[in-house]
Amino acid sequence: MERSINKIDYFDYNATSPLALTVSKWLSSGDVPFANPASVYRSGRYSKKIITEATSFIKESFGLLGHELFFHSGATEGITTSILGFAASCKKKDKKIDFFFSNCDHPAVSSLAPILQNDGSSIHQYNVERYGDVDLDELVRRVQKSTSDKILVNFTYVNNESGVVWPLALAKELKRLTGCYIHVDAVQAPGKIKEWNRLLPEIDAYTFSAHKFGAIKGIGFTFVRKDFPFQPLLIGGGQQNGMRSGTENPMGVHSVKLALEELKNDFNFEEMNSATRYIEAELKRELGTNIVIASDGSKNRNGNTIFMILKNKKMDTLLAALDINGIEVGTGSACSSGNRQPSKVLLAYGFSEEEAKSAIRLSFSPQFRMEQAKKTAEKLLKLIKSLS
Ligand SMILES: Cc1ncc(COP(=O)(O)O)c(C=O)c1O
Repeated sequence: MERSINKIDYFDYNATSPLALTVSKWLSSGDVPFANPASVYRSGRYSKKIITEATSFIKESFGLLGHELFFHSGATEGITTSILGFAASCKKKDKKIDFFFSNCDHPAVSSLAPILQNDGSSIHQYNVERYGDVDLDELVRRVQKSTSDKILVNFTYVNNESGVVWPLALAKELKRLTGCYIHVDAVQAPGKIKEWNRLLPEIDAYTFSAHKFGAIKGIGFTFVRKDFPFQPLLIGGGQQNGMRSGTENPMGVHSVKLALEELKNDFNFEEMNSATRYIEAELKRELGTNIVIASDGSKNRNGNTIFMILKNKKMDTLLAALDINGIEVGTGSACSSGNRQPSKVLLAYGFSEEEAKSAIRLSFSPQFRMEQAKKTAEKLLKLIKSLS
């Protein structure tokens, strides 16, 4: 059931999600594991059991029984570990790498490129098509030109700003045709696309942040194939088979299991998608040429995101009005020292700087339904129309 959080209409689920109901009930019960799972006494054994059970559950849920899985603090760490860990492992064997990333990837990915380059790797940015789709033929051609011993491609499954989906079958084909290694940034899949937990075992690595689907903040996980060249980023006590040292977080890990269970049981993609598309259609019908949906022409879109450019509206006034009226939405642009920075994703799609500064992102909960969509469309339109 859709929940009102402190009477707020919270429509920024691509940024983060409130706790899943099962997680908040469990936390308030107070019966949470606290002991170090490495400790041999009863409470330690309990923490260890919690982690072992959650690990099996997560592997089964995503159909990746043969992959290794390690927990971390969230996708930024998981992505850094996978990509820099790949490069470090190759470098140790005197192998040079080529790293490919797109012009729409999250900064958690793109910020690693200069580090790799400084360390002697070749980096390659590939561009997306007009509405955010990936041009597989072009990417295959570019990867095939690489001369390095090892090639790693980052493939963002679902774009966090636009909601454009790149089918995993394309990643599998890229791997088949080029023999490259692939890391999938899968952060925006759970609760947003239909087959969010059907991953392909041929792909080398997948990273998730669990706060995006109802677990507590500060926990995420990465799957890696056993033959993926990998060197841990965090070393120390050798926990998690040495893949990520540091005392494990049994409370966070159990919250991942609960949130995943809830999503598996309750998620109805069709209903969420119909509610989202209803709002989009209403906005387009009423606002006509004053609204542009960034990914309107893309081949595959998720079911919870509307990323739109509103023309002839003062964005700061609109955002303030939404906030005062208890509607919380995302913006495509980052705001630094009072200046709105254009959305990198919109620039990559070919929009102008001005357009890329005037985007709003609505991203709904997995429980978003038509009844709430009707009320939301009405409220949004009233507000948008009331402002110049
Ligand atoms: C696609 C994508 N990748 C990576 C991240 C980084 O995740 P976190 O901030 O949880 O580390 C995010 C977060 O917004 C994201 O949307």
